[in-house]
Parts: sequence; C-alpha cells; structure tokens
Amino acid sequence: MPLPKAELHLHIEGTLEPELAFRLAARNGVELPYADTDELRKAYRFEDLQSFLDLYYQLMAVLRTEQDFEDLANAYLERAAAQGVRHAEIFFDPQAHLARGVGMGTVVGGLWRALGSSVENHGVSTRLIMCFLRDESAESAMRTLDAAKPYLDRITGIGLDSAEVGHPPVKFRAVYEAAAALGLRRVAHAGEEGPPEYITEALDLLGVERVDHGLRCMEDPELVARLVRERIPLTLCPLSNVRLRAVDVLAEHPLPAMIDAGLLCTVNSDDPAYFGGYVADNYHAVRDALGLSREQMRELARNSFLASFLEDDEELRAR
Ligand code: ADE
Ligand code: ZN
Repeated sequence: MPLPKAELHLHIEGTLEPELAFRLAARNGVELPYADTDELRKAYRFEDLQSFLDLYYQLMAVLRTEQDFEDLANAYLERAAAQGVRHAEIFFDPQAHLARGVGMGTVVGGLWRALGSSVENHGVSTRLIMCFLRDESAESAMRTLDAAKPYLDRITGIGLDSAEVGHPPVKFRAVYEAAAALGLRRVAHAGEEGPPEYITEALDLLGVERVDHGLRCMEDPELVARLVRERIPLTLCPLSNVRLRAVDVLAEHPLPAMIDAGLLCTVNSDDPAYFGGYVADNYHAVRDALGLSREQMRELARNSFLASFLEDDEELRAR
C-alpha cells in the first residue's frame, strides 16, 4: 500500500504522456514534429527550465477541446490514486491555452468534468490553482484573472510559474492583490532557478501561503529561519530539480538539510510525464538516494496534508 499523501505541486499540462499526446494529436488533426512516441521521448533531455518549457508549450498544441482536458485530468488522477494520492491541488496555465484560441471555459470546463467526480471515480479530492505565466506581462495576468471570474466557484487559488529569472514576484503585485480581494488563495514558484530574494518578495509582496520549490532558500540562513518560524510550506520536486539541473544528482539534493533545518517540506512531481516519475516515484527516489528514514517519509506525507488547502475536517478524512 503506498503511503497516503497529498500532491500540491502538479502542472496538469505536465502530465501529458507521449502516448496521450499522439492520441489527441490524431483526434484533433494536429501535426507533431516527432515521428512517434520514442522520438518524442528522446527530446526529454533538458539543459535548464527554459529548454523544458519550450517543449512543454509546444506539446500543448494537442489540447483543444473540453474532452481533451477531461481525458488529461482523468489520466493523471488514475495514476495519482495508484500512487497513494488522496488529495491533489492541480495547477493549470490558462494563458498558454488562451493564446492558441482555446477559451477559459473549455479549459476549466474540461478539467472540471474530471475533477468534479474525482472523489467518486478515483478516491482523490482536488483543488484547482490557476497559474499566471511570469514571462508574460502583468496586464495579461490581470486580463486572465478577469476571464476566470465566471469560474471562480471551481478555482481555489492562483500561482505563478514559467521562466523565473528576470521576472521577479513584484511584477505581479497588483494581480495578487486583486486575487486576494476575490478570496483566492495564493502560491507562487520562487527560488527554483531564481534567487532567494524572489522567495522573500513572494512572501512580502504577493502574500503567498506556500512557496513552490523554494530550493534556493538554503542560500540565505535568515530566510530559512523565517520560513521555519512562519511555518511556510515548500512544495519540493526532487526529480524535476535533477532533470532541470537545479541540482546535479539526487544524492546532492538539499532535502535532508531542509528537513533538519525544520522547514515544512513536501515532495511532489511537478511535470511527471517529463521528469521520469509521479509523486510516489519522487518519494522512493529521495528515500533511496538520500537515505530518508521511514519516519521522515511519513513526516513528508503528513506535511503534504498540513500544507494543503483542505479544511481541518476534510484533511482528517483525506488522511
Ligand atoms: N511550468 C511547468 N513546470 C514548471 C516549473 N517547474 N517551473 C516553472 N514553471 C513551470
Ligand atoms: Zn512547477
């Protein structure tokens, strides 16, 4: 029996497996610049975050209809359930779809067809978190928030992702304020490739309750002390960090030092179709490479529920 856990850092578009990509491409008459799934898989060698994002955005071309988003989400939920996931807080990137002429209603409607019946069908409760692309303008983010207003009953929070360096959190201060006024929860990617100052900015200027990645906090002891003091959860993604070269090898991942420092760490899969494993694969990989104890593994799983946006009573049921 896999350890029951919540997954808090998961881009639904990053769960697009090559087989599904080709099936959707055929269904929608979209031509992919790869002969077959083997050739596509060979492209999964990344130098850094940007080289991954280039492929990630390219493959999204196959996602066109509500049915596509529903199929994508159901495929993820089925795999997640098999890996012990009881609760998933799922990111999506509407700007990447709006730019291709796929509307907010198609994206949210399609995802919701899977998420709305996920407890019954997969035994997984869910939340939806809408991310803004930080390499797009603040005005575009604000327009996206506006476009989401008819769907806010299905969207729990907002996040910030895509190319980090050169796009500090301060750029999105106004949109985060507007989202907070709408009652949305707030998270942001920070300190994946960007400096520790971006983590501080995300906390101070965006009011985030959780930091996605946050890896580079370890370069700033005062920031670590603050994150510990304020019990700010970090959603770490170890296999992603290796594939995108934030760390050289898993055996050098700072997770054990982060746990020892008292940080509220969680383990997640980020973009599992691209990075070689779903969430339980990440748990097993860190256990094997870093020698984590059974108690540390259980603590990571416990943290995932504590750091979730579930209410207390829901959290106890999910565990
Ligand atoms: N979008 C999808 N995965 C991402 C990651 N790891 N960092 C930033 N943006 C992303
Ligand atoms: Zn991410």
